[in-house]
Amino acid sequence: MQTLHEVRYLRAAIRAEKQNGKRVALVPTMGNLHEGHMQLVRRAHEVADCVVVSIFVNPMQFGESKDLDNYPRTMEEDRAKLQAENTHYLFVPDNNEIYPNGTELHTKVNVDALDGFLEGASRKGHFEGVCTVVNKLFNLVQPSLSVFGEKDYQQLAIVRRMVEDLCMPVDIVGLPTVREANGLAMSSRNGHLSQAERNDAGVIYRELQAVRDRILAGERNFEALCAEAKNEISAAGLVPDYFDVRDASSLAVVDTPADDAKLVVLAAAYMGEIRLLDNISIALGDSSANNR
Ligand code: PAJ
Repeated sequence: MQTLHEVRYLRAAIRAEKQNGKRVALVPTMGNLHEGHMQLVRRAHEVADCVVVSIFVNPMQFGESKDLDNYPRTMEEDRAKLQAENTHYLFVPDNNEIYPNGTELHTKVNVDALDGFLEGASRKGHFEGVCTVVNKLFNLVQPSLSVFGEKDYQQLAIVRRMVEDLCMPVDIVGLPTVREANGLAMSSRNGHLSQAERNDAGVIYRELQAVRDRILAGERNFEALCAEAKNEISAAGLVPDYFDVRDASSLAVVDTPADDAKLVVLAAAYMGEIRLLDNISIALGDSSANNR
């Protein structure tokens, strides 16, 4: 594995790989790699000959500087994990390499159709920062495909929409969420939780499953279902932000779904200061698709 810090070396390396006919995959991350990230890397290896993983804690997508400062950084462990998977290139730029002119007046990419609600409501400017950096990484690496997790469901939907709207020549691959034994979605932020808090946070996925099962059993009062789920999450000591049933691709609010509707239930809740996200997909009228 080659670790590259500078754009010019990255570009030269990728150019050579492409000249040799290699199919390049990019897995963008912010590091502190866990099993969720590693699944993305393994999939990239299955479908490409040259796997590039980026680790860049992108300041443009953070609100408070405290959140950015506290973001866990574990470069040596990350490097060892990627090496063990035979990753070809690890790209680790610093802020100056990605934003030589600063972030404030930088050209920005916005996907208004899917922003402004759910995560976008609680974290203003977050997706603008995500889209801008993902766009830059796509331009730097020019991958045939890029792998993302369904754990950040809205992010994945936004990236897909950006690629579609801007005709970017990259296939977006989405992979299911990897979880702890109690169902808690793996996240770099889980490291800030005590063992007891991690146990309690399992309530989020339990409630997502409960709501999914009740919808599949025919319940249609989504507002009441979600309110009950929020109460359970509060009772476990978390502070829920949202818990919503949405259309799986437009993320629009759904009142009366079609018999074959594809839905997603999205949740965000705080355990202390730590924001936890999760979601579960529901395919009405297709029972085989509903067991993850
Ligand atoms: P990060 O939080 O490091 O996540 C990198 C990728 O790993 C994302 O596609 C995310 O959805 C995926 N991922 C995280 N936890 C996962 C889990 N438990 N199961 C499956 N996949 C998981 O998301 C970002 O970084 C940034 O916003 C980024 C896209 C890199 C842009 O800065």
